[in-house]
Amino acid sequence: MGTQGLGITFLTLPLVVRAATGGQWCYDSQDPKCGPSHWKELKATCGGDKQSPVNIDRRRLQRDSALGDILFERYDQAPPGKWRLANDGHTVMLSLASELASEHITISSGGLPGRYRALQLHFHWGSPAGNGSEHTLDGHQLPMELHIVHMNVKYQTLAEAKGHPNGLAVLGFFFQVSETPNTNYNTIVGGLRNVSSAGQSVDLASTFRLDTLLPPPSRLSGYYRYQGSLTTPDCSEVVIWTVFEEPVAIGREQLRAFVSTLHFPADGPRLLKMTNNFRPPQPLGGRKVFASRAATASGAPPGRGRCHLLFPLLLLALLVPFSPHP
Ligand SMILES: *[C@@H]1O[C@H](CO)[C@@H](O)[C@H](O)[C@H]1NC(C)=O
Ligand SMILES: *[C@@H]1O[C@H](CO)[C@@H](O)[C@H](O)[C@H]1NC(C)=O
Ligand SMILES: [Zn+2]
Repeated sequence: MGTQGLGITFLTLPLVVRAATGGQWCYDSQDPKCGPSHWKELKATCGGDKQSPVNIDRRRLQRDSALGDILFERYDQAPPGKWRLANDGHTVMLSLASELASEHITISSGGLPGRYRALQLHFHWGSPAGNGSEHTLDGHQLPMELHIVHMNVKYQTLAEAKGHPNGLAVLGFFFQVSETPNTNYNTIVGGLRNVSSAGQSVDLASTFRLDTLLPPPSRLSGYYRYQGSLTTPDCSEVVIWTVFEEPVAIGREQLRAFVSTLHFPADGPRLLKMTNNFRPPQPLGGRKVFASRAATASGAPPGRGRCHLLFPLLLLALLVPFSPHP
């Protein structure tokens, strides 16, 4: 078979580790000299005031009733063609883009200013000792986070999208650990061994329905929304973030596969496991995090259902003592 048919393609990566000298970025777990606190030296935007991730403080959410359900299109079909899984030296990434507009997987509605097509998904995780989500919830980090990156369909290229504050829409999903595996993740988890070194990639045996990676559809109404950035350099402040309340369940062993299978770019003969590939929360500054119509309100009862029940009961309790009795 020709190069096209090779299952594994070894990409030549430019120097990645010589960060301090070579102008490359990394995570502290790879080399503190090029970790997140140094990114702004490489790219001033990383020191901007609309950076991601952020801590989502559920006591300070602002309800936005205009944030209804997101419309997921083609999330329920396995597209023809191939999906390539790659270790890009910072994460494991699944490319979703298709050349054919008719095959685009898109999101719209839910307060998004237009339609956005899926480009890629990737993950952020911790170590055997600690959680590794990027967004935090009330100050707590969760075990892992999935990002599905979408680009506004009115832009043709990523470079063009990066020129506009509404250029990208990223969906973020937290994970929670379960004792049983989530078999919907078998294809991705199975492919990790094929991309254990930085620069490796592999075509997955088959595509699959993207919605199988998400929580059940009935749980996708609850989400948090804010305006932020890419969480890796160049940290472009062009991302409409949607972070879902409901976590995805993943088996303990499956999570372990992420933490222990992949490696950062080798620094000489030294192989360093890819762990803690998350950026810590950035200042919210003057921004607000909005809660969708169906998201759990802080300290208050969740959603509409319980409110409807509670209000008449409260009213009744207030009125009854004053009612004239026959
Ligand atoms: C992926 O790796 C496994 C062994 O871990 C191997 O059996 C399989 O052929 C590889 N797949 C591809 C497409 O290279
Ligand atoms: C890690 O995440 C779990 C939820 O899956 C949580 O119970 C635990 O407190 C988290 N650990 C830390 C140190 O935040
Ligand atoms: Zn990400």
